[in-house]
Amino acid sequence: MLSDALQNKLNEQINAELYSAYLYLSMSAYCEAKNLPGFAHWMRKQAQEEVGHAMRIFTFVNDRQGRVTLQAVAQPPSDFGSAVQVFEAVLEHERKVTKMIHELYALAVKEADFAAQAFLQWFVTEQVEEEKTANEILEALRMVGDKGQAVFMLDRQLAQR
Ligand code: FEO
Repeated sequence: MLSDALQNKLNEQINAELYSAYLYLSMSAYCEAKNLPGFAHWMRKQAQEEVGHAMRIFTFVNDRQGRVTLQAVAQPPSDFGSAVQVFEAVLEHERKVTKMIHELYALAVKEADFAAQAFLQWFVTEQVEEEKTANEILEALRMVGDKGQAVFMLDRQLAQR
Protein backbone atom coordinates (compact mmCIF):
# COMPACT_ATOMS: atom_id res chain seq x y z
CA MET A 1 0.00 0.00 0.00
CA LEU A 2 1.26 3.45 -0.91
CA SER A 3 1.55 6.18 1.68
CA ASP A 4 -0.61 9.25 1.10
CA ALA A 5 2.45 11.42 0.56
CA LEU A 6 3.87 9.11 -2.10
CA GLN A 7 0.48 8.66 -3.74
CA ASN A 8 0.05 12.46 -4.01
CA LYS A 9 3.50 12.92 -5.48
CA LEU A 10 2.95 10.10 -7.99
CA ASN A 11 -0.31 11.73 -9.03
CA GLU A 12 1.57 15.01 -9.49
CA GLN A 13 4.09 13.14 -11.64
CA ILE A 14 1.32 11.72 -13.84
CA ASN A 15 0.23 15.30 -14.40
CA ALA A 16 3.80 16.43 -15.12
CA GLU A 17 4.26 13.66 -17.70
CA LEU A 18 0.97 14.53 -19.38
CA TYR A 19 2.00 18.19 -19.41
CA SER A 20 5.28 17.08 -21.04
CA ALA A 21 3.25 15.33 -23.74
CA TYR A 22 1.19 18.48 -24.22
CA LEU A 23 4.30 20.66 -24.36
CA TYR A 24 5.97 18.48 -26.99
CA LEU A 25 2.78 18.29 -29.01
CA SER A 26 2.67 22.09 -28.98
CA MET A 27 6.32 22.17 -30.08
CA SER A 28 5.41 19.70 -32.84
CA ALA A 29 2.68 22.03 -34.09
CA TYR A 30 5.13 24.93 -33.96
CA CYS A 31 7.74 23.03 -35.97
CA GLU A 32 5.11 22.07 -38.56
CA ALA A 33 4.22 25.74 -38.91
CA LYS A 34 7.92 26.59 -39.36
CA ASN A 35 8.32 24.03 -42.15
CA LEU A 36 10.43 21.65 -40.10
CA PRO A 37 8.55 18.35 -40.56
CA GLY A 38 11.42 16.22 -39.19
CA PHE A 39 11.53 18.22 -35.96
CA ALA A 40 7.73 18.05 -35.80
CA HIS A 41 7.83 14.26 -36.21
CA TRP A 42 10.46 13.95 -33.45
CA MET A 43 8.33 16.05 -31.11
CA ARG A 44 5.22 14.02 -31.88
CA LYS A 45 7.07 10.80 -31.01
CA GLN A 46 8.35 12.44 -27.85
CA ALA A 47 4.80 13.39 -26.89
CA GLN A 48 3.73 9.74 -27.30
CA GLU A 49 6.61 8.64 -25.08
CA GLU A 50 5.50 11.05 -22.39
CA VAL A 51 1.99 9.60 -22.41
CA GLY A 52 3.69 6.22 -21.97
CA HIS A 53 5.54 7.58 -18.92
CA ALA A 54 2.28 8.85 -17.43
CA MET A 55 0.65 5.46 -18.02
CA ARG A 56 3.49 3.58 -16.32
CA ILE A 57 2.84 5.61 -13.16
CA PHE A 58 -0.92 5.28 -13.58
CA THR A 59 -0.53 1.49 -13.63
CA PHE A 60 1.88 1.46 -10.69
CA VAL A 61 -0.44 3.51 -8.46
CA ASN A 62 -3.31 1.13 -9.27
CA ASP A 63 -1.13 -1.96 -8.76
CA ARG A 64 -0.26 -0.69 -5.28
CA GLN A 65 -3.94 -0.26 -4.42
CA GLY A 66 -3.54 3.49 -4.61
CA ARG A 67 -5.96 5.98 -6.10
CA VAL A 68 -5.15 7.83 -9.30
CA THR A 69 -6.64 11.31 -9.38
CA LEU A 70 -6.17 13.25 -12.58
CA GLN A 71 -5.59 16.98 -12.38
CA ALA A 72 -5.97 19.70 -15.00
CA VAL A 73 -3.17 19.82 -17.53
CA ALA A 74 -1.84 23.35 -17.97
CA GLN A 75 -1.81 25.11 -21.32
CA PRO A 76 1.65 24.91 -22.90
CA PRO A 77 3.27 27.85 -24.72
CA SER A 78 2.60 27.96 -28.45
CA ASP A 79 5.51 30.12 -29.63
CA PHE A 80 9.08 28.96 -29.16
CA GLY A 81 11.31 31.16 -31.31
CA SER A 82 14.09 29.47 -33.29
CA ALA A 83 14.86 25.73 -33.52
CA VAL A 84 17.69 26.34 -31.03
CA GLN A 85 15.23 27.94 -28.62
CA VAL A 86 12.87 24.96 -28.99
CA PHE A 87 15.59 22.56 -27.88
CA GLU A 88 16.79 24.90 -25.14
CA ALA A 89 13.23 24.69 -23.81
CA VAL A 90 13.25 20.87 -24.16
CA LEU A 91 16.47 20.56 -22.18
CA GLU A 92 15.30 22.97 -19.50
CA HIS A 93 12.03 21.07 -19.20
CA GLU A 94 13.70 17.67 -18.96
CA ARG A 95 16.02 18.97 -16.23
CA LYS A 96 12.94 20.05 -14.29
CA VAL A 97 11.39 16.58 -14.74
CA THR A 98 14.63 14.94 -13.59
CA LYS A 99 14.50 17.02 -10.41
CA MET A 100 10.90 15.89 -9.81
CA ILE A 101 11.85 12.22 -10.31
CA HIS A 102 14.74 12.60 -7.88
CA GLU A 103 12.43 14.15 -5.30
CA LEU A 104 10.03 11.24 -5.75
CA TYR A 105 12.86 8.77 -5.32
CA ALA A 106 14.09 10.56 -2.20
CA LEU A 107 10.60 10.31 -0.71
CA ALA A 108 10.44 6.58 -1.53
CA VAL A 109 13.79 6.14 0.26
CA LYS A 110 12.63 8.18 3.25
CA GLU A 111 9.53 6.02 3.55
CA ALA A 112 11.45 2.79 2.97
CA ASP A 113 9.08 1.95 0.10
CA PHE A 114 11.30 -0.52 -1.74
CA ALA A 115 8.77 -1.31 -4.48
CA ALA A 116 8.50 2.38 -5.33
CA GLN A 117 12.29 2.70 -5.37
CA ALA A 118 12.57 -0.24 -7.78
CA PHE A 119 9.82 1.24 -9.95
CA LEU A 120 11.39 4.70 -10.02
CA GLN A 121 14.80 3.33 -11.04
CA TRP A 122 13.52 3.09 -14.60
CA PHE A 123 12.65 6.80 -14.58
CA VAL A 124 16.01 7.79 -13.09
CA THR A 125 17.77 6.02 -15.98
CA GLU A 126 15.29 7.33 -18.55
CA GLN A 127 15.96 10.92 -17.48
CA VAL A 128 19.70 10.48 -18.13
CA GLU A 129 18.78 9.46 -21.69
CA GLU A 130 16.22 12.27 -22.10
CA GLU A 131 18.71 14.97 -21.10
CA LYS A 132 21.51 13.41 -23.18
CA THR A 133 19.38 13.33 -26.35
CA ALA A 134 18.04 16.87 -25.89
CA ASN A 135 21.56 18.14 -25.26
CA GLU A 136 22.98 16.39 -28.34
CA ILE A 137 20.35 17.88 -30.64
CA LEU A 138 20.75 21.32 -29.03
CA GLU A 139 24.53 21.23 -29.49
CA ALA A 140 24.14 20.15 -33.14
CA LEU A 141 21.74 23.06 -33.71
CA ARG A 142 24.12 25.51 -32.03
CA MET A 143 26.93 24.22 -34.21
CA VAL A 144 25.09 24.74 -37.50
CA GLY A 145 23.58 28.07 -36.42
CA ASP A 146 21.15 29.49 -38.96
CA LYS A 147 22.72 27.78 -41.98
CA GLY A 148 19.61 26.71 -43.85
CA GLN A 149 21.11 23.67 -45.55
CA ALA A 150 22.49 22.20 -42.32
CA VAL A 151 19.18 22.73 -40.49
CA PHE A 152 17.47 21.02 -43.43
CA MET A 153 19.82 18.02 -43.10
CA LEU A 154 19.22 17.86 -39.35
CA ASP A 155 15.48 17.99 -39.98
CA ARG A 156 15.84 15.02 -42.32
CA GLN A 157 17.77 13.13 -39.65
CA LEU A 158 15.16 13.76 -36.95
CA ALA A 159 12.46 12.51 -39.33
CA GLN A 160 14.06 9.04 -38.98
CA ARG A 161 13.05 8.66 -35.33
FE1 FEO B 1 8.85 11.78 -19.07
FE2 FEO B 1 10.70 13.41 -20.90
O1 FEO B 1 10.35 12.74 -19.23
